[in-house]
Amino acid sequence: MSKLVHVIVACAENRVIGRDGKVPWRIPEDMAFFHAQTSEQICIMGRICFDTWPGARRDSRRSIVVTSHPLPSSPDRSSAPGTGDFPRAATSLAGALEVAESTPGEVYICGGQRIYEETLALNRPLRLHLTLIHADVPGDRTFPEWRGQPWRERSRREGADANFRYTFFELER
Ligand SMILES: NC(=O)c1ccc[n+]([C@@H]2O[C@H](COP(=O)([O-])OP(=O)(O)OC[C@H]3O[C@@H](n4cnc5c(N)ncnc54)[C@H](OP(=O)(O)O)[C@@H]3O)[C@@H](O)[C@H]2O)c1
Repeated sequence: MSKLVHVIVACAENRVIGRDGKVPWRIPEDMAFFHAQTSEQICIMGRICFDTWPGARRDSRRSIVVTSHPLPSSPDRSSAPGTGDFPRAATSLAGALEVAESTPGEVYICGGQRIYEETLALNRPLRLHLTLIHADVPGDRTFPEWRGQPWRERSRREGADANFRYTFFELER
């Protein structure tokens, strides 16, 4: 029996998720949501996300980094207390999911673009935690088109700050 795979993303109406290696907005409520959902869980991500997100090594996250290169051992890549031999590397999404299957905790797919694309193309149940930002935002990384897939809405909650209106959706496929 395979674990349920959670996908977590904040995405603009035009599907933009990133620009110049960063998230192109700063929405504290969404950042808090993302950190609360993923802390102490298994986080699968691409190498750039891992390199640019220090939180991947905090809050007892078990990070699995998809990369074609071995992870160099450097002080800032060392394991947080209680996370054993994590962070770990996998050479494919399938390899990362295999490691996740035998690791305690929920599995969260944390991006970036190719990891999200490959995940949404999988033929398995997914739970999508989508923060949809109600704006078109310029960027160079996108989330795949999810709107044509047969998602069932589990919940939604509206939010806003001085710059954006957004909706927290929980969808299941
Ligand atoms: N808004 C959001 O919720 C959100 C979430 C995540 C990321 N982002 C944004 O997205 C951008 C980062 O994502 P990204 O798409 O540029 O990069 P990424 O997915 O973090 O990293 C890309 C790298 O991951 C490895 N990789 C990815 N898929 C692979 C596969 N299937 N097999 C083997 N290796 C694979 C490769 O590493 P090697 O080169 O080492 O082989 C590739 O160069 C940033 O702008 C970030 O802020 C936004």
